[in-house]
Amino acid sequence: MKPPFVITVDGPAASGKGTIASRLAADHGVQMLDSGLLYRAVGGLLAAEGKDLDDVEAATAVAEGLTVEQLSNPAFRTRAAGELASRVAVHVPVRNALFRLQKSFCLRPEGAVLDGRDMGTVICPEAPAKLFVTARPEVRAERRWKQLTGQGEPVTLEDILEDIRKRDERDGGRAASPMRQADDAVLLDTSEMTIDHAADAARRIVEAARARWERS
Ligand code: DC
Repeated sequence: MKPPFVITVDGPAASGKGTIASRLAADHGVQMLDSGLLYRAVGGLLAAEGKDLDDVEAATAVAEGLTVEQLSNPAFRTRAAGELASRVAVHVPVRNALFRLQKSFCLRPEGAVLDGRDMGTVICPEAPAKLFVTARPEVRAERRWKQLTGQGEPVTLEDILEDIRKRDERDGGRAASPMRQADDAVLLDTSEMTIDHAADAARRIVEAARARWERS
C-alpha cells in the first residue's frame, strides 16, 4: 500500500521553511506539525523549572509529559526559546520521547506537512514529497533581524548572525538525528527569493511529487 501524501520540509532557522510549510498545508487542506515547537516547549519548560539543559533525565521527563495544550505558550516562539530548544534537542532520550507524536502525523491517511530538521530523514523517511529549504547564513540573519526589530526586540544583526551560525553548527553537528538533507529531498535555496517566490517554487516541487505519487 502506498504511504499517505506527506510533505516534509526540513532546513535551518530563518530559511523560510515555516512559512512554506504552512502555505503547503493550507493548499492541501492538511494539518501541519511544527516539530521545532516541541523542542522549544521542552527547553522552555525545563528552564522554567530551574533545571540544567544538560540534565538529560529531567529533560526527558518534560518531553514525556508534554501535552498539546502546553504548546500554545507564546514564550516558546522567542529567540531565547530557539536556543534552549537546540540545546535539549541533542539528547537522544528527549528525541525518542517526542518520536511517537511526530510519527503519528506521517501516518494520517489524509496526509500532513511536517516542518523540522529530521522530518525527511528520521521521522518520515517514507514521505513522497521532501524539501530541504535553506539560504545563506547572512541572508537568514538579516530576515530574522528585521522580524525581531520589527517586533521591538533590541538586537543587533551581528548577534543574530552569531546565533544562526551557532545553531547551524549544533543542529547539523550533533550525533542524534542531525539536520541534513535527505537523499531524496529537493534542495530549495531561498537566498535570492522573496517568500512568495520561494513558496511558489515549493508548490511546483510538491505538485511534481504529487503527480508521481498518484501514478505509483
Ligand atoms: O525550527 P525551530 O527554530 O523552531 O527549531 C528550534 C530548535 O529545535 C532547532 O534549533 C533544533 C531543534 N529541532 C530539532 O532538533 N529537530 C526538529 N525536528 C526540529 C527542531
